[in-house]
Amino acid sequence: MERPPRRPSAARPRPRSLQRAAAALFLAIFVALPFAVLYRGPVSRSLHDSWEWDPLPSLDASEEDGAARDDDLDSQDLKLEQVLQKASMGDNTVILTTLNSAWASPGSVIDLFIDSFRSGVRTSSLINHLVIIAFDWNAYKQCLKIHPYCFALGTDGVDFSEEKRFLTSGYLEMMWKRIDFLRLVLESGFSFIFSDADIMWFRSPFPYFYPDGDFQIACDHYFGNATDLRNIANGGFNYVKSNERSIEFYSFWYSSRLRYPGLHDQDVFNVIKHDPYVSDIGLKIKFLSTSYFGGFCEPSRDLNKVCTMHANCCIGLQSKVHDLRVMMEDWRSYLSLPPSLKRLSALAWRVPQNCSLSWSHQ
Ligand SMILES: *[C@@H]1O[C@H](CO)[C@@H](O)[C@H](O)[C@H]1NC(C)=O
Ligand SMILES: *[C@@H]1O[C@H](CO)[C@@H](O)[C@H](O)[C@H]1NC(C)=O
Repeated sequence: MERPPRRPSAARPRPRSLQRAAAALFLAIFVALPFAVLYRGPVSRSLHDSWEWDPLPSLDASEEDGAARDDDLDSQDLKLEQVLQKASMGDNTVILTTLNSAWASPGSVIDLFIDSFRSGVRTSSLINHLVIIAFDWNAYKQCLKIHPYCFALGTDGVDFSEEKRFLTSGYLEMMWKRIDFLRLVLESGFSFIFSDADIMWFRSPFPYFYPDGDFQIACDHYFGNATDLRNIANGGFNYVKSNERSIEFYSFWYSSRLRYPGLHDQDVFNVIKHDPYVSDIGLKIKFLSTSYFGGFCEPSRDLNKVCTMHANCCIGLQSKVHDLRVMMEDWRSYLSLPPSLKRLSALAWRVPQNCSLSWSHQ
């Protein structure tokens, strides 16, 4: 899987509109350089591997600042920082999801995602901190209809709009693009919760994060110990604090795609989590329990505890949407119970139904 050649403009130093971003980058370079020497290879390459913005036609003719930017790259960068700033919580944390047109059509995944925030417990105000990253024009247009914070990500000529089944090259490109993008978000000084849109939010996850974790990730399979590297992570949900360790880790993760051609970012994570370089960075990894952050691979059994449920272990968009709808119905039935019955936790999920359990991805 060859990446398109870098445009010359991508190599030029870019003025940073936020001092914070400059500081983060500065730190990253100073922390990363000694490691790059230790590690050699992909990491040192990643330091020079600038984010490639595909200049899209101007997205916002009505934008208040009319100052003409001399460079599409810089204006994309500025726009991203503006939208992140508007959506961010007091501590510069944002919630991010990605969207392609297959998931954007009305009544499909993105509508269910937003719906889950509205009907969750203390989740409706979190929508104000959500930024939807659109991978194509249809997704971007649809986003603008349903949500205030949308950002169109350049796509380097790869069509991300069709439903991406597991392990086609377009799907891989999309997943890796996401990792590189998230690195940029961290470099800009924003911490984030990344959530796939096929994850329903039923309760605020914040009370269940570890205060001392840099990188916290949900699991397909969780073995009961948050620091045990044998837990099988799922890249669809993670909470990452912006700091020099997380920035360096994302650079390392992204560059590791070259060592494992054809592998998905999640599978590469499950390999590199054991890499001594990751402990050298000092990154504090926490795996999140499926009791709170469940999915079809390993459901969160107790509706009194569940924060999120992911339609993972599911192949096919129709099956996914079908089972997500059933899951939302189950949640609403639970909410409608009187408190005494809720505590009995007699209600169990009726899903997965159409989602296949024989696959452990998507
Ligand atoms: C959890 O896993 C870590 C790392 O494998 C280990 O050091 C620690 O003792 C474990 N904790 C418990 C309670 O088993
Ligand atoms: C779900 O599965 C049922 C039973 O196999 C089938 O009749 C139905 O068409 C499926 N629905 C979707 C949306 O795939």
